[in-house]
Amino acid sequence: MQKITAAISAVGGYVPEYRLTNKELETMVDTNDEWIRSRTGIEERRILKGEGLGSSDMAVPAVLELCKKRGIDPSEIECLICATVTPDMVFPATANIVCDKIGAVNAFGFDIGAACSGFLFALTTGASFIESGRYKKVVVVGVDKMSSIIDYSDRTTCIIFGDGAGAVLLEPNEEGNGVLDSILKSDGSGSKYLHMKAGGSVRPATMESVLAKEHYAYQEGQAVFKFAVKGMADVSYELMERNNLTADDIAWLVPHQANLRIIDATANRMSLPREKVMINIQKYGNTTAGTLPLCLWDWEKQLKKGDNIILAAFGGGFTWGATWLKWAYNS
Ligand code: UT7
Repeated sequence: MQKITAAISAVGGYVPEYRLTNKELETMVDTNDEWIRSRTGIEERRILKGEGLGSSDMAVPAVLELCKKRGIDPSEIECLICATVTPDMVFPATANIVCDKIGAVNAFGFDIGAACSGFLFALTTGASFIESGRYKKVVVVGVDKMSSIIDYSDRTTCIIFGDGAGAVLLEPNEEGNGVLDSILKSDGSGSKYLHMKAGGSVRPATMESVLAKEHYAYQEGQAVFKFAVKGMADVSYELMERNNLTADDIAWLVPHQANLRIIDATANRMSLPREKVMINIQKYGNTTAGTLPLCLWDWEKQLKKGDNIILAAFGGGFTWGATWLKWAYNS
């Protein structure tokens, strides 16, 4: 009997309407369009505006879109995993809030906090549930409202991040398509370079922590950049090697959209031409857990059944990894 693999059977996405352009950022901090484009590749990013709106409000339309595309009712979802570092609240899990809002009354849900690698970690977790034979419909969401933890007076971080959500449905596949291999890694010693100082159990919110701006993302950009270039490229190359995949075998690289220079370094290491690399960083910036599913969302119509796809990510934790999957359907 053919082994059960977990295949993506539908994709949904959502980005807020508001476009924060490089030009507008020029009026907020000492930066310029040329610097941002040449150092990061970003032209604009989407921002979720509106009182009382959080990550779940972007995840909900993304999941509802995939249900509609697949022709299923949310009540058919058995498990929903939400990758995010900007949950609606510290608890309960945003996954639970999303399930409630969409009427996924038969699903259990939980969040995964692996920063920019969150979607990859959640995808592998969700795939394991399907491979076990125990579940048949698992939704994996990657969502972040990065604007909720960004200091818009800090030019080293505010130019990079944006808001957005992407989601995929995983179902059993007996044709050999779906998630085939993953290498996932984490190294907590890297946390000093990218973290949020307060708001956790070590340093709960106080007047002082707020005034010291410790509830914003803190990043030592250059250090993270060096680790990211090496980490994402090495793991992608390792995944190719151990599965005997050559550049010709690979239809698409889906890289985390943190910096165009990191994406190029990974593609070069894999000997892949730019045409095979999904790049939408120019319009969304870095949406953290949202980047990979938002690429799949943007490219879905171009993907063909049997395409070999490698997803790769690197982010806070440090966390990083790569996943090889075979696309399971033609749109
Ligand atoms: O997704 C999670 C993982 N995160 C990442 O992968 C991000 C990795 N890091 C990066 O992408 C890059 O390090 C940044 C985009 C954050 C920064 O780019 P960089 O090329 O590493 O710049 P830098 O920090 O080395 O700064 C170079 C110069 C500095 O000026 P001096 O000291 O050379 O005079 C900065 O002060 O650029 C200056 N600078 C800016 N100038 C204009 C820093 N930010 C800006 C800015 N506009 N926004």
